[in-house]
Amino acid sequence: MRVLVTGGTGYVGEPVLKTLLEQGHEVRALVRDPSRLRVAGAEPFQGDVLDPATLLPASQGCQACVNLVGVLREEPERGVTFDKLHYQATRNLLTACQQAEVRRFVQMSANGAERGLPYAYFVSKAKAEVAVRASELETVILRPSVIYGGPGDRPSFMGTLESLFSWAPAVPYFSGPGFELAPVSSREVALAIGACLVRPDVTGKIFHLCGAEVYSYKDLLRLVRDLGGHKSVLFPLPYALVRLPAVWLGKQRWFPATADMLGMLKAGNIRPAGAPDFHGLLDVPEDSFKEWLLQGRDRQSRPEDEPAEPLPRAAPTRELYIPRIEDFPPGELPGAGEKIP
Ligand SMILES: NC(=O)c1ccc[n+]([C@@H]2O[C@H](COP(=O)([O-])OP(=O)(O)OC[C@H]3O[C@@H](n4cnc5c(N)ncnc54)[C@H](OP(=O)(O)O)[C@@H]3O)[C@@H](O)[C@H]2O)c1
Repeated sequence: MRVLVTGGTGYVGEPVLKTLLEQGHEVRALVRDPSRLRVAGAEPFQGDVLDPATLLPASQGCQACVNLVGVLREEPERGVTFDKLHYQATRNLLTACQQAEVRRFVQMSANGAERGLPYAYFVSKAKAEVAVRASELETVILRPSVIYGGPGDRPSFMGTLESLFSWAPAVPYFSGPGFELAPVSSREVALAIGACLVRPDVTGKIFHLCGAEVYSYKDLLRLVRDLGGHKSVLFPLPYALVRLPAVWLGKQRWFPATADMLGMLKAGNIRPAGAPDFHGLLDVPEDSFKEWLLQGRDRQSRPEDEPAEPLPRAAPTRELYIPRIEDFPPGELPGAGEKIP
């Protein structure tokens, strides 16, 4: 089938384009700057998810759309806000896809968007989910945990950690409840998307794309440090000490995290209770984060320090929650049953 993919120049987008092409799809990549598209075989289509006039021609002739556009940091001075890039952009795309009679729509959300936490990133993802669910298309929503294994020269969580270890003699970790992560590989994500495009039994569903290994933040840092051959010392830092300075520091581009990113890290990023494991449901083979770290580097010697072991899978802690229209202030979303304009 012909698939329109947005965000195809990104950390997740590149592996997704390659996988869909390998699976035999024709792929049209909506790009702002065609020179950034590096995947041979993908058809570049110049456009912008914030410019609705470009989206109808981009959607025409496509049977499915995969929406991967997203940002982790707002830059309001450049017009980059979570609300625009996640919610408004999704609405623009849904409208175009409906008009162009695209059948299936796969939406990249985020693990945690369902929790009702007061972080603008999550709120915008949850609003976008509501818009997707209200549309008349066959929709699938994916909520990934932190993703690894994309191209090394695109910004990513793993890239941030590795660059920190490459120069910082000491790196802080946070301890206490929360701070657990279930990294999922870009290959697993791409295969899940491929399955969601063609399977008849996935429409209307939400999948939490969480890796099979669960790590505390401290263990994950140890693993990245040890298997990357870095020498930085890890030291504990109470979260409360960082939260306030991060409000100011996070606004500086050089600082690796915003206050909201730290809050989301504290909240944890593992599969919620009630959410089934996507691997079995979508026939996606499990990848190991630890193996990926081991294979990815040219290591002369193994660290003496025992690498951290994955924690046992997290015990159920909370019910699965699906954002509803009523969860948002009046006027922010289309009303129940109302069509997206
Ligand atoms: N990476 C993770 O760990 C992770 C975890 C959970 C969820 N997600 C979600 O997964 C999706 C992909 O993430 P990612 O890490 O691949 O992000 P990324 O590397 O930052 O890529 C973002 C993509 O969006 C495109 N884009 C930005 N603004 C656009 C606009 N106005 N019009 C058209 N395209 C625009 C960028 O294109 P340009 O090349 O033009 O900048 C780029 O291709 C996002 O929705 C993200 O929220 C990612």
